[in-house]
Amino acid sequence: MDIPGCICGRGLELTGSLMSESLQSNITPYPSEDLPVSSSISTSLLTKNKPFPVRGERANFVNTPHVIVMVGLPARGKTYMAKKLTRYLNWIGIRTRVFNLGEYRRRVTKNYKNHNFFRSDNDEAMALRQRCAMDALDDVRDFLENDGEVAVFDATNTTMNRRRMIFDIVVKKLGYKLFYVESICDDPSIIESNIREVKINSPDYRGMTSEEALEDFLQRIDHYLAQYQPLDEEKEDHLSFMKVYNTGQKVVVHKHEGHIQARIVYYLMNIHVTPRTIYLARHGETTHNQQGRIGGDADLSENGRLFGLSLTEYIQKQKIPKLRVWTSWMKRTIQTAEGIDAPQERWKALNEIDAGICEEMTYAEIKEKYPVDFAARDENKFSYRYPRGESYEDLVARLEPVIMELERQGNVLLIAHQAVLRCLLAYFLDKSSDELPYIEVPLHNVIKLTPVAYGCEVEYEPLDVPSVNTHRPRPRIPGTLEGTPKNEIYELEDA
Ligand code: SIN
Repeated sequence: MDIPGCICGRGLELTGSLMSESLQSNITPYPSEDLPVSSSISTSLLTKNKPFPVRGERANFVNTPHVIVMVGLPARGKTYMAKKLTRYLNWIGIRTRVFNLGEYRRRVTKNYKNHNFFRSDNDEAMALRQRCAMDALDDVRDFLENDGEVAVFDATNTTMNRRRMIFDIVVKKLGYKLFYVESICDDPSIIESNIREVKINSPDYRGMTSEEALEDFLQRIDHYLAQYQPLDEEKEDHLSFMKVYNTGQKVVVHKHEGHIQARIVYYLMNIHVTPRTIYLARHGETTHNQQGRIGGDADLSENGRLFGLSLTEYIQKQKIPKLRVWTSWMKRTIQTAEGIDAPQERWKALNEIDAGICEEMTYAEIKEKYPVDFAARDENKFSYRYPRGESYEDLVARLEPVIMELERQGNVLLIAHQAVLRCLLAYFLDKSSDELPYIEVPLHNVIKLTPVAYGCEVEYEPLDVPSVNTHRPRPRIPGTLEGTPKNEIYELEDA
């Protein structure tokens, strides 16, 4: 019987730093403005000491830890890209964390006064900023030596000296892979909207008016501009990097190394910042839903058909520009979308999770016939794979092309299934793999996702059509029917 989750991916536990040798030896000296003030970063034996991973257990795999380093002037969308990339990598199963230098700086300088802090002739502030950078890199090392696989260092890193220092630490001393991502933007409207949307709400500008904050931030940019050296294909030929111009108008890739970097390039090539809304809905209720049966390819129930009509009316009322409708290949999503007047596409990748030998059974029947599997699924619902079927983890891998295409699109209405929508919601709302299989996706609701600043706003709009509840919450005791929707329990009693 296939009970995944029994093999421990990384087995051994590493305790803290493995070596204490200072990074300061063996690295190229830096001109004074970039001299590391202090560093507790130590050489890593990580790549030698980590146990052999078990391939095939996880859909994605990182052999050598990676550090992704953002580059660019302030308000060029670096944080947006860093956060979004981190969310994506975590979603595909790569343990990733952002280290934002502004947050390190704010921890040690409580009261930001004004842009003069960022002048290059402000020696005291320069020393402090340097120390913050070293602290952040120290935390990067700590994260990657323990459980992390990819660290994203979100800072301006606008000088060659700073990038050389990072290269020496990350590549020469720690033996990690390093990839720079530079965001270049010369469109004043994009820069100003970025400042207005996120920068003026920064804790730096608490107590200032929007106009004062905007003015100060523009001067801050000027201080960086005075020293800015974009990544240089000749002088920094040894570095792996990509440059993204004006939020994706043009992309340049230089010496990228391997699978993870290629995926990062591909992902960042696909994202955009044009405002849009994604509408998610489950198919209308089916006859299987009424009986508490999972899977199958049943028709809509009478209530399900009413939901289809109600959804059609809701969508027509919204007058959504250039809306596209995506459904799975299953009858219930196609029937739900039937009346909607917009271009429709069918995606096999949107089909419901394949429950294998449990297809078309009720939870009560599964518990009775396959009690070990039923309990195993409750123990680790994300990784559990139905015999001859799929796991949520498999589903995430199947849905990756859907996410990539959704990132490229404008307004989309996506009609799919409970497990599929849980995976998509986890991506947009940054939910962990442990939370993902329990996200509520009620029947007969429209879920509106609107990208805002660094995340996504979600609204559930119930359309007034009755339906059964198919949500089975995490039971306190694995393998029991606790919390199983009532209609199934009635089934069992009736049987
Ligand atoms: C900050 O202190 O807000 C950012 C520092 C930097 O990345 O240059």
